[in-house]
Amino acid sequence: IPVEPFTLVVFGGTGDLSRRKILPALFHRDAAGQLPVEARIIGVSRRVLDREAFRGFAREALTDHVAAAHLDMSLLEKFLERIDYIAADATEDEGWSRLGTLLEQRDDIKVFYLATTPELFAPISKRLGSQGLVGRNTRIVLEKPIGKNFQSALAVNSEIGKVFPEDSIYRIDHYLGKETVQNLMALRFANALFEPLWTAARIDHVQISVAEELGVEGRAGYYDTAGAMRDMVQNHILQLLCLVAMEPPTSIAADSVRDEKLKVLKALKPINTSNASVLTVRGQYRAGASAGGAVAGYLDELGHPSTTETFVAIKAEIGNWRWNGVPFYLRTGKRLPSRVSEIMVQFRAVPHSVFDSPPEPNRLVIRLQPDEGVKLWLMIKDPGPGGMRLQHVPLDMSFAQAFSVRNPDAYERLILDVVRGNQTLFMRRDEVEAAWTWIDPIIEAWQSSNEAPKPYVAGTWGPSAAVALTERDGRSWYEGA
Ligand code: BG6
Repeated sequence: IPVEPFTLVVFGGTGDLSRRKILPALFHRDAAGQLPVEARIIGVSRRVLDREAFRGFAREALTDHVAAAHLDMSLLEKFLERIDYIAADATEDEGWSRLGTLLEQRDDIKVFYLATTPELFAPISKRLGSQGLVGRNTRIVLEKPIGKNFQSALAVNSEIGKVFPEDSIYRIDHYLGKETVQNLMALRFANALFEPLWTAARIDHVQISVAEELGVEGRAGYYDTAGAMRDMVQNHILQLLCLVAMEPPTSIAADSVRDEKLKVLKALKPINTSNASVLTVRGQYRAGASAGGAVAGYLDELGHPSTTETFVAIKAEIGNWRWNGVPFYLRTGKRLPSRVSEIMVQFRAVPHSVFDSPPEPNRLVIRLQPDEGVKLWLMIKDPGPGGMRLQHVPLDMSFAQAFSVRNPDAYERLILDVVRGNQTLFMRRDEVEAAWTWIDPIIEAWQSSNEAPKPYVAGTWGPSAAVALTERDGRSWYEGA
């Protein structure tokens, strides 16, 4: 689908997200010939820089974050010519009229990308409105987190809603831009095989794990106000859960998909003070080892006491016909043994085994990262004349082996979707609010229990209570087999 001429204004232009994700994503799409010649990028931040200095920043960002094999120097220089810079502060007049003048020069699509701290979302959007910069072809992109609970999300959404209509607001959850996540929709709705099995009658349980090897890196300040629940579960993990659990939408049009996801969020069974201690586990890492080296504990990195969790495991249930009684075990954490994100759907065992040993249940594993792919675990006969011995073996589809193309980063897809006006992979206001409605009582239950998160050694799979969460039900966390 062709991309129309656009101007992308990146607020927080000199920030981490701009450097690590947004600029590299735009460069890759440019290198692939997907950006129209007229496409422009304007960095905006409070820092007083001129255009050349910002281009220097962008050059460095690309050198650091684009693999050498893809970094063609002449393409890089051409890409930099698209870039301009304006120093402006949401709370001051300086810079805004220059931005207006630049934007007026062309009749193209305007995308305002707010890669800033969330406190600036409302002030910037208000400013965009009062400067008369919002019109027919303007869109606004918001990074998570949208609020830190239902009330604050409501406030942010309503402030933005005063300036931008909902169909021009793009709330990014970058997990939805990951190739394998979209493949989940292809798997479910482009194959007749799975749908008849996709019910409580056939599925024993589902696991969604997003494990990170890294700690909080340089983000302890932000992270400590969020914790794993707000940073990962409220958005990425619940979005994955929605895609696994939703009813087939009538099309992949944005509202068709988002209506179905919303129903899942609303059907999540409440977790609150009455059951949080049984259905959830919070952890916080202590000093340990990661990637072969010693690493500090969370509190040492932070420099002060804190009860913020760096690990969460939850047994969630969806109260509807399709999923009644099927647990969704969710877990995410920092400083776990490896970086691996997977969705595992475990089917029920055969009703009666005709073999000496009972067959292992079938499992469908969708691996988001690293080594994207899909595995379907089946029982087969061990080759040879030694009798009927069974083995659990995966039908293994590795995307890297099956397709020789570079796997694009989520942001490459998502930014172009904004320009194209396709909201399917973005969160609608009511989804964000419904997610908080489920999350808030869990956090409140933790707060009212006054229990500190359970410690775990960095480089392990979280507190032992997380193991107990599945073992109590006679199940175990999927660890690759
Ligand atoms: C971000 C979180 O949204 O997602 C980070 O704020 C986390 O804490 C990151 O590290 C994980 O993203 P990815 O794409 O590396 O799995």
